[in-house]
Amino acid sequence: MAFARDDGALCADAFPLADIAAAVGTPAYIYSWPSVRARYAMLEAALADVPHRICYAVKANGNLALLARLARLGAGFDIVSGGELTRVLRAGGDPGRTVFSGVGKSTEEIEFAIRQDIAAFNVESVAELARLEAGAKRLGRSARVSVRVNPDIEAGDHPYIATGTKESKFGVPAAVARDIYRQAATSEVLEAVGVGCHIGSQINKVAPFKQALTSLLDLADTLSGDGLALRHIDLGGGFGVRYRSEEPFCPKELGRMVKDALAGRNLTLTVEPGRFLVADAGVLLTRVEYLKPGPNGRGFAVVDAAMNDFLRPTLYQAWHAIEPVLAPDAAEARWDVVGPVCESGDFLALDRELPLREGALLAVRGVGAYGFALSSNYNSRVRAAEVLVDEDRFRVVRERETMADLLRSETIG
Ligand code: LLP
Repeated sequence: MAFARDDGALCADAFPLADIAAAVGTPAYIYSWPSVRARYAMLEAALADVPHRICYAVKANGNLALLARLARLGAGFDIVSGGELTRVLRAGGDPGRTVFSGVGKSTEEIEFAIRQDIAAFNVESVAELARLEAGAKRLGRSARVSVRVNPDIEAGDHPYIATGTKESKFGVPAAVARDIYRQAATSEVLEAVGVGCHIGSQINKVAPFKQALTSLLDLADTLSGDGLALRHIDLGGGFGVRYRSEEPFCPKELGRMVKDALAGRNLTLTVEPGRFLVADAGVLLTRVEYLKPGPNGRGFAVVDAAMNDFLRPTLYQAWHAIEPVLAPDAAEARWDVVGPVCESGDFLALDRELPLREGALLAVRGVGAYGFALSSNYNSRVRAAEVLVDEDRFRVVRERETMADLLRSETIG
C-alpha cells in the first residue's frame, strides 16, 4: 500500500505526508514510484503468456521522472502529440517502442515522429494516411501504419471518455480501414503492420475489450484474405481503477481473454494503459485556508488547491476520496471542499463528512492520472509542485511554478 497510515499519520511509502508538505508546501502532487512499478509488474505478469508491449499513455501523467523510470522497466509509450514525443525522448524512452495516436496529427508532428522512426502511427483517417505518405516521401523515409478502428462499443464511465462509439470522432469503421490498408499497399514508403482501437477510459470489465478484440481479429482475417498479414494488434488503454466502490479491472482476466483470443496467431499485442498504472500512485496535498458556514447543514472548506490544479471533479463530476493527513483533532461535520477559483464549479469534493480545522492538511486520493496533466494556470495560479517518492527518499521532480514562469512569454506590446 503506497498510501497508508502509520500511527494515525498518512504516509507515502516510508514518508509522512505532513513532512513532505512541510518541505515543499501545498498544493503538491505526491507520486509513489514503488506503486507505479507494482502496477506495471502486475500487468506484465498478467500478459506474460502472449507476446506483448505495454505502451504507457503519456497523457495520463507526463512527468519526466515517471517516464524515465517506466522506460527503464522496458515500457513503450503511447503519445498523442509532438510534445509528448519530446518528453519520451527527454526521459530516455525508446521511439522504437512508441505509438502515435490522435485524430489531428499536424504535418510537423508527423515528420518529427517519422524522423524518430517510431513503432507505428495509429492512423485515424484516410486524410491522415495521405499526409503521412507525403511526409515520409518528403523525408525519404518510411513509416509503419496501424489503423485505428472504431468498433462501435459503448464503454467508459462518462460520455467525455467513451471513445469507441460510432458517434465519436475517433478511429474509422472497419470498411474504411480496409480502404486505408488498400491505399497503404500501393505506397512505397508506408508499411501496414497492425490494427488497433481504443474504446474508452475507466472501463472495469473485460467484456468490452473482448468484443473489441473480436472485431479487430475479424478485420485482420479479412485483410489476410486480401493478402495482408498484420503482426501487431493494439487494444488501446482504458483499464479502470477503484476510485470509490467500483469493482476494479482484473488484469489476470484480461490476460486469460487475450491468450485465448490470440492463440495460434502470429500477433504481438499492444496495450496503452494510462490510468491503471498511475492513478492510485498519486495524492494531491492541500491545506484548509478557511472554514465558512454554508446552506443545508454543510459548510465550505476553502482549500489552497482548486479546479486549475485538479479538474476531474469539475469536468467529470468525478468522486475522489479526500482525507485528513494527520489524525483528526476536530469533530466531523459535512463540508463542500472548494478551491479559491472564482467559479461555482470549483470544487474538489461535495458533501463529505470530515473532521476539519483551519490549517488542516488534506490528501485527495487517486490523482496520479489526469491530475497534474489536466492542470492549468486559470486565475493566474501557478501550477503545483510534483514530488516523487522512490524507495529511500522523496524529491521534487517538478518545481512549483513561479509568477516569472507564467509571465515569461508575455509582453505589454
Ligand atoms: N490510448 C488512447 C488512444 C487514448 O485516447 C487514451 C486516453 C489512452 C490510451 C489511455 O487511457 P487510460 O488507460 O488512461 O484510460 N481525462 C480523462 C481521461 C481521458 C482519456 C483519454 N484517452 C479522465 O480524467 O478521466
